[in-house]
Amino acid sequence: MKLLLAFSAILFIWHAPLVSAIPADVQQIVVDYMNRFRESFAVALPVSNMNAIVYNASLEKKISTCTVAEHAGKDHRVIFFDSLNLDKGPDTDGDIDSRRAETVMDPNNHHDDVEPYRRTVNPLNAGIGCIILRKPCPYPGQPRNAVDKATAMCFFGGPEIRKPLEGLKRGEPASQCPNGKSEISDYMCKA
Ligand SMILES: *[C@@H]1O[C@H](CO)[C@@H](O)[C@H](O)[C@H]1NC(C)=O
Repeated sequence: MKLLLAFSAILFIWHAPLVSAIPADVQQIVVDYMNRFRESFAVALPVSNMNAIVYNASLEKKISTCTVAEHAGKDHRVIFFDSLNLDKGPDTDGDIDSRRAETVMDPNNHHDDVEPYRRTVNPLNAGIGCIILRKPCPYPGQPRNAVDKATAMCFFGGPEIRKPLEGLKRGEPASQCPNGKSEISDYMCKA
């Protein structure tokens, strides 16, 4: 009996998921943060077909190890975060001027930092689902012992595309919305 208990305990630990769900209020913070960023990008460039995104729990993924997280991060619709306490950080990330927007668009810009922005402002994204990594994982391409680690991952939903900015149309914000304008923004489309 004791042996069986010990064995179940080991199995339980073995199966303990690396991830936990995020609370509903944090889901809303993430969605608002992303939409503020996407809206200001749409105005700055400008972009005519930027969708406003919604929280979609079916996009959350069960990540079992950091190796799996790193593999999942190769998808063009995944971003990593230090923390999902986005409302507590400096409130300047959403301030995008047209110069910064063009930097994100520049195909010759291969800076590491720019790729997550491209994924975030993909106009065709329709939803987002996020998870907390209970054991922080190194950012993709970073060594295991890196000091800065990711504690959260978000997965965008939308059409499969090869590159994040492939479906972007320039022009007057929200002037090319197949499903009409978003209810939350005059500058974004309903997904
Ligand atoms: C949520 O995401 C799933 C998977 O991409 C998709 O099939 C579904 O339509 C989305 N739901 C909403 C409400 O957008």
